[in-house]
Amino acid sequence: MTTRVLTGITTSGTPHLGNYAGAIRPSIQASVQPGVDAFYFMADYHALIKCDDPQRIARSRLEIAATWLAAGLDADKVTFYRQSDIPEIPELCWMLTCVTAKGLMNRAHAYKASVDQNVARQAEPDDGITMGLFSYPILMAADILMFNAHKVPVGRDQIQHLEMARDIAQRFNYLYGGGKDFFVMPEAQIDDDVATLPGLDGRKMSKSYDNTIPLFEGGAKAMRAAVARIVTDSREPGEPKDAEGSHLYTLYRAFATHEESGQFRRELEEGMGWGDAKVRLCDRIEQELAPMRERYAQLIAAPQRIEDILQAGAAKARRLSAPFIAQLREAVGLRQTAAPVSKPAKSKAGKRARFASFRDEAGMFRFRFVGEDGAELFLSEGFENPKAAGDAVKRLQAEGLDGFVVRQDGQASICVDGVLICRLDADALERVRQAIAGMAEEA
Ligand code: TRP
Repeated sequence: MTTRVLTGITTSGTPHLGNYAGAIRPSIQASVQPGVDAFYFMADYHALIKCDDPQRIARSRLEIAATWLAAGLDADKVTFYRQSDIPEIPELCWMLTCVTAKGLMNRAHAYKASVDQNVARQAEPDDGITMGLFSYPILMAADILMFNAHKVPVGRDQIQHLEMARDIAQRFNYLYGGGKDFFVMPEAQIDDDVATLPGLDGRKMSKSYDNTIPLFEGGAKAMRAAVARIVTDSREPGEPKDAEGSHLYTLYRAFATHEESGQFRRELEEGMGWGDAKVRLCDRIEQELAPMRERYAQLIAAPQRIEDILQAGAAKARRLSAPFIAQLREAVGLRQTAAPVSKPAKSKAGKRARFASFRDEAGMFRFRFVGEDGAELFLSEGFENPKAAGDAVKRLQAEGLDGFVVRQDGQASICVDGVLICRLDADALERVRQAIAGMAEEA
């Protein structure tokens, strides 16, 4: 069985070395494991919650996409997309919002922390807090539930959001599932082996502490300049150093093999100067980053290529989200009032069954099969490719229904070349069969 792994990256900044070692590198490694179906996306709707600078949002989306691709993400193997290219996500977010208890959101750590800060400075509790921040966990639940992810690799600070996603999913399943579950229960995946890098001052490397080492921006020069600023103790060259206790060693270990790290450690203990150690650290990091930095520069210079990759990723994701949201709309009662009939044929109006092709709101190509009386007999699943939809119609018309019926678990479906066209009950199937047969006779 494949495990669907999904994670999002908020696009509000430029990736640094800590993001690379703590998230990007392990995610790319995980994506090539057998049995893993990885979904990685840019959480750009989430970015709007904390950033109202359009330039910065736009720039960050580009930089983050280029970083992942340069670091070796295979966009053909994983599903790599921008959240805002999937309109089914905000649509699902609204459906989930309508079943989420406000009390649940009141308990969210991020929201509570903001309230606490306001109270501490004697401001209104909700001062400066937007509905975006308040509802942040629901949007995140929509990201996850939309694709029925099993595992969600995140930092510890996100565990509560996963619990909330499960709560919300359960509530929706209970209200609308009628015994069947729409959503898989997702689980947080916390990887303790993954490196958390110390920043220049020794605290966790983080943009909010302003202690980061740049990844690609500014080139090798900027990286070396930052490493030169890493805080060390004042031991002179020749004096033995406490390797275990030094941030330089922690950083080195995140990039080196076991043997290389042992060697580095011994040399520090034998008195290697901090200056030399910094040069060694930079060289080791560069060994890994230099080829990626080159690819990064090429990608940034060719934004159209990145856009094409992301558009293809969005189309791939929407092949799942579009039919799924259609099911969910149906479940909550957002249904068509009656089968809309596209304009009746001019000549023998209403006398002849026919196929009517169209493009749906999601941009997918579908067709309806309409009976002699003008009533819809079925609506096909969406095709990405109009020609594939057209070919399926032609084959049904030419060959009749019988060769295309697949029965399973008491349900029948029509499949052409293994592609599902629609599911039908026995009566509906019979009506379709007769109508298609009737067309053949007339032709
Ligand atoms: N909240 C996550 C973070 O700040 C980003 C995120 C948004 C996310 N949607 C997600 C992570 C869905 C995992 C799954 O890190």
